[in-house]
Amino acid sequence: MTTITTIENVSQYEGEEIVIRGWLYHRTDKGRLQFLQVRDGTGLIQAVVFKKAVPPEVFALSKNLTQESSVIVTGTARADSRAPGGYELAVSGLEVVQQAAEYPIQPKEHGVDFLMQHRHLWLRSSRQHAILRVRATIIKTIRNWLDDHGFVNVDTPILTPAACEGTTTLFETDYFGEPAFLTQSGQLYNEATAMAFGKVYCFGPTFRAEKSKTRRHLTEFWMVEPEMAYATLEDVMDVEEEFVSAVVQTILREHPSELALLERDTTFLERIVPPFPRISYDEAVDILHREGFADFPWGEDFGAPHETTISEQFDRPVFVYHYPAQCKAFYMEAVPGHPKLSRSVDLLAPEGYGEIVGGGQRTASAELLERRIVEHGLLREAYEWYIDLRRYGSVPHAGFGLGVERTVAWICGLPHVRETIPFPRMLEKMYP
Ligand code: 4AD
Ligand code: MG
Repeated sequence: MTTITTIENVSQYEGEEIVIRGWLYHRTDKGRLQFLQVRDGTGLIQAVVFKKAVPPEVFALSKNLTQESSVIVTGTARADSRAPGGYELAVSGLEVVQQAAEYPIQPKEHGVDFLMQHRHLWLRSSRQHAILRVRATIIKTIRNWLDDHGFVNVDTPILTPAACEGTTTLFETDYFGEPAFLTQSGQLYNEATAMAFGKVYCFGPTFRAEKSKTRRHLTEFWMVEPEMAYATLEDVMDVEEEFVSAVVQTILREHPSELALLERDTTFLERIVPPFPRISYDEAVDILHREGFADFPWGEDFGAPHETTISEQFDRPVFVYHYPAQCKAFYMEAVPGHPKLSRSVDLLAPEGYGEIVGGGQRTASAELLERRIVEHGLLREAYEWYIDLRRYGSVPHAGFGLGVERTVAWICGLPHVRETIPFPRMLEKMYP
């Protein structure tokens, strides 16, 4: 019996006959030699079919093989320093599981609209494969790091009765005759679970009915949200810089070949180690006034060009804290003595990637919270349970949310978030 294995494990079988089950990525015809690039999800290997080494029908099959046909290849693994994974297969047998119809994605330039329409097939290409592999490791690292640092994973609901991040970006749905909303963030529920477990995190899809068509907005994106009881804004920054650095350093260590394929300049990533610079909103506004935004008005939230200018002053991610309360959500704690400022913090990634994490300290007082709910025009009944958290053992608490897709885009050096998630949901885009 010949061993069935995967391309990533071929090195264990040097000189042995093995079976690889995959798809034809590319074929080069050299007359008596057919070079089949076969992929199986774990890697890419060259399978060499030599006319004299196989029965005539096997050679004929290989010669007619179309791109993306599903194939089971039998061959001997041999080391070859020129091969991408260091090994190639000397083919002895070939089974065509299905001869593919003419494949729509050819090795040439296709427009991005065409590729997005064929996202279900585009996922097979080496660049998309590399990006989504990095994404998977980012997610794994996020979970491992939080699990190893005392955070308990307590997930929060997707169907909710109220807004978390403002009412303008809510997706509404019918819940047995009552309106319900797809969650914008698990934070409010996290605050409840933090009072039960101390340090928690939720990790799941979140939804924003964003009417913005930018390179960093999705309507459905994944967010990890750690939340800590007995914690302040400063604690949040301490955790974030360790956490984000651990994610970046793990990707550098585990995915050098994916980053190389993506032509990512890793010198920028190697610098990502704590501590990260910390500046106040006021200091950030001073930078803007100095660097080409002379009339930026105090009190406004930063847009993408502002964030780029601020982050360009630093060689690693930068924290901007104490934003004006008016540009942040209702739940932000006030800065003592400065009621117009909030205990909020955004982490801006370098190289123009902008905000990848948002967070801060939450209002501990029921009274301030009730006032903010009114000021933000929110329906009080839906937040009774949330105000309860301030009635029964309220403590200073804080947390943050990291957007997975923006983090993948930054680490992989991609211009747009659409390639960072298998099936992106964007304004005017829900297919496939
Ligand atoms: O800054 P945001 O809106 O913060 C919250 O939702 C807080 N409740 C989090 C918390 O403190 N627990 O979102 C956090 C992050 C952003 O920094 C960004 O990375 C990502 O989520 N994000 C988006 N990513 C893609 N598309 C969108 N439309 C996004 N909106 C936010
Ligand atoms: Mg934000």
